[in-house]
Amino acid sequence: MSLCDAVDHDGPTTISDPRALRNALGNFATGITIVTARNADGSAIGLTVNSFNSVSLEPPLIVWSLSQTSSRFDAFQRAAHYAVHVLASDQIELAQRFATSGVDKFLGLRTSSGLGGVPLLENCCAWFECRNESRLEAGDHRLFIGAVERFATAQRKPLIYHGGCYRELGAQD
Ligand SMILES: Cc1cc2nc3c(=O)[nH]c(=O)nc-3n(C[C@H](O)[C@H](O)[C@H](O)COP(=O)(O)O)c2cc1C
Repeated sequence: MSLCDAVDHDGPTTISDPRALRNALGNFATGITIVTARNADGSAIGLTVNSFNSVSLEPPLIVWSLSQTSSRFDAFQRAAHYAVHVLASDQIELAQRFATSGVDKFLGLRTSSGLGGVPLLENCCAWFECRNESRLEAGDHRLFIGAVERFATAQRKPLIYHGGCYRELGAQD
């Protein structure tokens, strides 16, 4: 059964079934973001993230979580700044590329330089340039709280993620 199939449960499912828990969590529709930063050696790093959310308007804070097993864990820990890009519905290829290990994620991409030299991607719905304010251990992930210092938006349809599939809003939306 694929993650895209609807799953009906008549009753509660045991918490010891991680696959069932993952499927249940997949019912929560999210947008898709790419978080970018600079490594200590100056190289561009980034990954696809759907754990992004808003936290506070005053002061302006956002949150996302990074797996403890991420190959970029130390780099994001140390980065002074990072940028969160909200992807548009025609950026599925970018979402897939930035979710793939061992590829040159920035190959052929046009970027501009944001606060702290962070690479900014083009044609997104929005981006948020953040100071790496604080981090909090949370199980097998670490929560990253970002203080938004600058942001930009564009009138584009967002990319949606639901039930393990990329989707877009219907025409009436
Ligand atoms: C839809 C989607 C959402 C993801 N969200 C997260 C996330 O919130 N946090 C995270 O650490 N990894 C997340 N990942 C996994 C990372 O994108 C992936 O592990 C990473 O890009 C691997 O590349 P790397 O080895 O270069 O770090 C997500 C993947 C996908 C496909």
